[in-house]
Amino acid sequence: MGDRGFRGDTRGPRRFTPSRDILASVNDLRFPLALSYDDVLLVPQRSDIASRRDIDTSCQFTRNVQLAVPIVSANMDTVTEADMAIAIARVGGIGVIHRFLTVAEQVRAVARVKRAEALVIEDPFTVPVTLTVGEAIAEMRLRSVSGLVVVGGDGRPVGIVTARDTRLQDDPSRSVREVMTPAERLVTAPVGISSDDAALRMRDARVEKLPLLGADGRLAGLITLRDLIQRSERPNATKDDRGRLAVAAAIGVRGDHLERAAALAEAGADALVLDIAHGHMDQALDAIGQVRDAAPGLDIVAGNVATAAGARDLIAAGADGVKVGVGPGSACTTRLVAGVGVPQLSAVIACAEVCNAAGVPLIADGGIRYGGDLAKAIGVGADTVMVGNLLAGTTESPGRVVSRNGSRVKVFRGMASAGAAESRRSIDTPDAPADDIDFSPVPEGVEAVVQLRGDAAGVVSDLVGGLRSGMSYTNARSIMEMKERAQFVRITPAGLVESRPHDVTM
Ligand code: XMP
Repeated sequence: MGDRGFRGDTRGPRRFTPSRDILASVNDLRFPLALSYDDVLLVPQRSDIASRRDIDTSCQFTRNVQLAVPIVSANMDTVTEADMAIAIARVGGIGVIHRFLTVAEQVRAVARVKRAEALVIEDPFTVPVTLTVGEAIAEMRLRSVSGLVVVGGDGRPVGIVTARDTRLQDDPSRSVREVMTPAERLVTAPVGISSDDAALRMRDARVEKLPLLGADGRLAGLITLRDLIQRSERPNATKDDRGRLAVAAAIGVRGDHLERAAALAEAGADALVLDIAHGHMDQALDAIGQVRDAAPGLDIVAGNVATAAGARDLIAAGADGVKVGVGPGSACTTRLVAGVGVPQLSAVIACAEVCNAAGVPLIADGGIRYGGDLAKAIGVGADTVMVGNLLAGTTESPGRVVSRNGSRVKVFRGMASAGAAESRRSIDTPDAPADDIDFSPVPEGVEAVVQLRGDAAGVVSDLVGGLRSGMSYTNARSIMEMKERAQFVRITPAGLVESRPHDVTM
């Protein structure tokens, strides 16, 4: 059948007596060898790339979602909620909001990303003129915005109140009418104004928010200076076709997954990620079609798999992206607990052949510690990598900052750890009895802490810097060229020692 690596096909007759055959196969090394990132190195090649700036890292996350950099933040509850998804999309990757939230909470997180920046906020937050200053401050805080359009009963703006107006007010019971910029001084523009004209109007009037009016004079949108600046400063940001930041969201394969899928689609999610440890399961394959019906038009990523057969079955079931990785994650213990897994480089090689032939992007999920791992993953055929640990210690992760042995660290936990499994039980099956053995799986992940690492943009920049360097050594100007041109050597434990800093005091 021509697959490289691990076929993962269990169908077909059993041909041998296991005990004797297994012994024999160990003895004659019939088990195939599987490699991980540390087992190989990219070989330097003659390169005519003079500057790393000439390298284009744009890639596909799914069939229809393109990224400027191949970084996806993991759908883990200590990694990706709205703040992380916003930060990652701004630098050209994409975040996957985890699913261990109620449907309403997950929808709110997606909506927050969608509102974080846009050329035009089509449905700006508004308040009635009857509000007090204290209530306006509370509303701005709740919505994480710095201004609210004040509208009359007919939907026409009667003013705008911003944080600047409320900041020095010492009487919270004053009416918002007394502190807002009133209608007669309000600078507005007709809906449909170009971004250049909007910028000029805001510059000339020295305002930071420009309410847009429809032909009937009713509020029809809002442009903010912050969004215009973000837009010009971050040309690589991952955006949808309405100029909003892109975001993906994870769902399960049972319980409320279809209701969740429909609600996330409605909230504007750009892709759904079917998140299940063993994606090569009939239940997961069936779920792809069901989710497609519940959320038509949305790209669906499915996983996780680690074999060519797994990738092929997910693609046949309709996946628009395949997530690869069984056990390589830094907080995973699947390989210890269940004895199952495929070292990640070999898993990616096996799946990439199938994915690349079908034109379905591959996400190499887990085990990325350095830019070099990213370069190797792309070199063996991945389109993007999913990152958990490296992003868990950043400012934007939802993890708590705690003190451990005198240093400040953030909590990071595997999604199959005991704590996460308990949260999942209450989200997936809230009515299941706590002592029901069926709902008490053995943990396959650990709860840990990671060092603080600054902001997510810095982590992405380091990873992508490493990738660019690896691409330059490989003479690859694009992700496609990297896949085609990468050459590898396998190394020995001595080679690995030589690869790391040695004989120096750190
Ligand atoms: P890194 O190495 O970046 O990997 O931290 C993140 C990926 O790890 C996977 N993951 C788990 N795998 N048990 C597992 O077997 C777990 O508890 C667990 N939690 C996360 C997941 O694929 C994630 O994207």
